[in-house]
Amino acid sequence: MLLGGTVTDQHNPALENLLSETRSFPPDEEFAAQANAQPELYDRAAADRLGFWADQANTYLTWSKPFTEVLDFSGAPTARWFADGQLNAAYNAVDRHVEAGNGDRVAILFEGEPGDTRTLTYADLKDEVSRAANALEALGVQTGDRVAIYLPMIPEAVIAMLACARIGATHSVVFGGFSAEALYSRITDADAKLVITSDGGYRRGKPSALKPAVDDALTKGETNVAHVLVVRRTEQDVAWTQGRDVWWHDALADASPEHTPVPVDAEHPLFILYTSGTTGKPKGILHTTGGYLTQAAYTHSVVFDLKPDTDVYWCTADVGWVTGHSYVTYGPLINGATQVLYEGTPDTPHKGRWWEIIAKYKVTILYTAPTAIRTCMKWGEQIPAEFDLSSLRVLGSVGEPINPEAWMWYRRVIGADRTPIVDTWWQTETGAIMISPLPGVTAAKPGSAQTPLPGISADIWNDAGEPVGNGGGGYLVLDEPWPSMLRGIWGDEERFKDTYWSRFPGTYFAGDGAKYDDEGNIWLLGRVDDVMNVSGHRLSTTEIESALVSHDWVAEAAVVGASDDTTGQAVVAFVILRGDVVERADEIGEGHDVVAELRNHVAKEIGPIAKPRSILVVAELPKTRSGKIMRRLLRDVAEHRPVGDVTTLADTSVMDLISTGLNAAP
Ligand code: WTA
Repeated sequence: MLLGGTVTDQHNPALENLLSETRSFPPDEEFAAQANAQPELYDRAAADRLGFWADQANTYLTWSKPFTEVLDFSGAPTARWFADGQLNAAYNAVDRHVEAGNGDRVAILFEGEPGDTRTLTYADLKDEVSRAANALEALGVQTGDRVAIYLPMIPEAVIAMLACARIGATHSVVFGGFSAEALYSRITDADAKLVITSDGGYRRGKPSALKPAVDDALTKGETNVAHVLVVRRTEQDVAWTQGRDVWWHDALADASPEHTPVPVDAEHPLFILYTSGTTGKPKGILHTTGGYLTQAAYTHSVVFDLKPDTDVYWCTADVGWVTGHSYVTYGPLINGATQVLYEGTPDTPHKGRWWEIIAKYKVTILYTAPTAIRTCMKWGEQIPAEFDLSSLRVLGSVGEPINPEAWMWYRRVIGADRTPIVDTWWQTETGAIMISPLPGVTAAKPGSAQTPLPGISADIWNDAGEPVGNGGGGYLVLDEPWPSMLRGIWGDEERFKDTYWSRFPGTYFAGDGAKYDDEGNIWLLGRVDDVMNVSGHRLSTTEIESALVSHDWVAEAAVVGASDDTTGQAVVAFVILRGDVVERADEIGEGHDVVAELRNHVAKEIGPIAKPRSILVVAELPKTRSGKIMRRLLRDVAEHRPVGDVTTLADTSVMDLISTGLNAAP
């Protein structure tokens, strides 16, 4: 739902410079000659879009029952792609590579944060996934059931996802940084039968526990979770519930490495992934099998130019996010890639860790987020300069707009002024990349995601739903169905229609503002709704406000995303304390830091990623006469700008109060 925000409302000083960006990097001839993507791809897709997608589905996937129909959009907005075909995702990601004689090819080069390593070939992966699938079945999981996965970035995360897919169970991966509360709500919303977790993982040089959050989540209310499967990673002590908890290694040791993958319909639910929306409750984005896998694999091949025999690919995303689903688990494995999986943070034990990993494994393709690039810029280019990065040949970016300075730094310092950069725009909802340059084809422009991929149709419309044309700005829409599009919000069809299909009836509205330059390249301008993007992670202002208000001390809260040089946006909260709390302020103040208490409360309710960067205690919030909080004004305060137009406020003196309070604050 659009709440007040408009494209012109947005303030981002970097954006004003964007459209004067004239630098362009045409593809290198040598690269172009060997590229997976050729310019004709656009013509082929334009000539027969559905035929093009049918070709991709047959090129990239092996079907146990071929499909005869491509798209059925008669039940719009829910699309059905390749609906009469059948296939299995794990078979496509693993078994067929072994059958084709590539069992010895390395699938996963695992690097743990403490420096431990593991190498899994496709044959190893087939054994492990089969054992895990047998173990899940032995624990009563059946085709169509839901399984929650709450794991660190270890090979078992990928194995668990594929084991679910192998038996046709729908996985719901919950990012390990989310709290017990957030995990509980996701477990109950999807009605998961089983949870796969670990004792913990390594984070910033120390073991960090995970299982306690699962134990805690399962005491918060009724669930249908019969078993918790626990991977041993850190060897921390864990509490054990007899009869419910099962060690992963025990369950797998007893299981056979032979398992027949269950063929499912193309429209069978592959996974649910929760993402923040504009209301408090996270949305369970539903993806199905055939269309999703087609687009994940096709985009992974053409956008990253993957050559399975020679490339070493590394996507730094966690499997808890959609990027980890499409570009760690499904896309790369379906394409038979060799990939690095790294458990830890970029600065443990030193700030060169990523570059050391690239040099060690001779990584050729790197896919990461602008926030990481900006952080490395801050640390200084002497750090990557100490490592041999000459193996790199393609660099990717995802999660938020990449500013031209960061783009140039990425290319010059990491890519030796030579590698193509692909700035890929997409969403949890779109399932796979939608707008991106193609390496070897597109003359890249720093800061622009450029054009829809072959087979994809996108446009920019104004408020009235009219195309703005070159040079114009407005709302990004996707005006034709695509194979990996979401098939709904789990358990909430109305919200699905309302959120994406009602702003422009019948057309998918992405929630992003965008502009065309004079050549028709798309420049993304950030969200126009109440969704924030912090370090490439989507957070809902309303969800954080609800978390704050759930604390006894808080009467009212307003949250805004303020621009931040490193994280893109940062969470800034304005809270009004309850009357009695204000009266007892001195008493509470003793030994209690109100701000610290509230920040920790948000971490407990949602997860540390949602912790506000700052919390300002105020006496009033700026509201319109109809009672709507004017976040635009709060954003002005949070970004230290003169406060904009206040004439629509019910009480125009409120902003003076807030600004004065702010100046008085230490
Ligand atoms: C933003 C992540 C500009 C956008 C794959 C979108 C981007 C939201 C880009 C989806 C990009 C993602 N340029 N903005 N290349 N990529 N975004 O669901 O606002 O976590 O709507 O999916 O991230 O975030 P999500």
